Amino acid sequence: MTPGRGTGHGKLLLCGEHAVVHGHPAIAVAVDRSTEVTLTPHAGTTTVTSNHTDHRVLDALLTVLPGEGFDVGVVTDLPVGRGMGSSAALAVALVRARAALDGDQPDADEVYARAMPIERAFHGNPSGVDVAVAASGGCLWFRKGDPPIREPLPPPAWSLVVLDTGTSGDTQELVAAVGARRPDIDPALARIGALVAQAREALADPVALGALLTENHALLREIGVSTPALDALVALALDAGAHGAKLAGAGGGGVVLAVVTDDEPVLAAARSAGVTAFRTRLWRGAA
Ligand code: PMV
Repeated sequence: MTPGRGTGHGKLLLCGEHAVVHGHPAIAVAVDRSTEVTLTPHAGTTTVTSNHTDHRVLDALLTVLPGEGFDVGVVTDLPVGRGMGSSAALAVALVRARAALDGDQPDADEVYARAMPIERAFHGNPSGVDVAVAASGGCLWFRKGDPPIREPLPPPAWSLVVLDTGTSGDTQELVAAVGARRPDIDPALARIGALVAQAREALADPVALGALLTENHALLREIGVSTPALDALVALALDAGAHGAKLAGAGGGGVVLAVVTDDEPVLAAARSAGVTAFRTRLWRGAA
């Protein structure tokens, strides 16, 4: 039997992480890095072969697959556990691979519906923004709910440079820690929500958008999810001429994104500081 193949893309949260868990909006962009799953039917116990380094996610993968009948291959070029949506990309890739095997062609809404239970097995109670953007591609306005609001936004013309701390934060722990600080931090969460609405209006203007994202970083620091390493990368990017920079994802480690019109000065500054950095392009979606 021909193997089923499926791809899921990674994402960056342009703004709104953490506040999105508590009902505020977020803006996410799908990136040109992805995870591919190959499902090969075979007799015997299901096995997973992968270069994905998060073993908790791989163990969770086995809980959502039949115990027998598949060889599962996972290949990713996403940094794992860095806030770039590697687990959502894996969930979406798995759904698409299974659909390919069954000769089924689910649209992005159906992929989202099928991938969310898998993402929940990986992460507890995610807002769903990672899965939504991994399934649809492009730039997405998202608000949690049943059903969630998912509105495509015009793809921006500026670039994003990603700077990697080289360490991972634990999303579940960080989300729980933020929840435990409510209601004290509710004004900061509301400020993040308001800033996301302003960012939507400023999407075409990298200078105005950048200032809002840098402010978003300050608020993320205020709610306790930044680290000295993340703050240092934000400062490095701003000193090198980025229009704005912030941690992206749950924090506690992971990556910083910088909005730039010319990526080279930020990449050069990262190189001379010995920091891993790369340019990302928007993945516009399959359609
Ligand atoms: O770090 P990531 O890629 O798992 O992103 C987490 C984003 C949060 O807003 C902190 C949690 C969520 O479920 O939206």
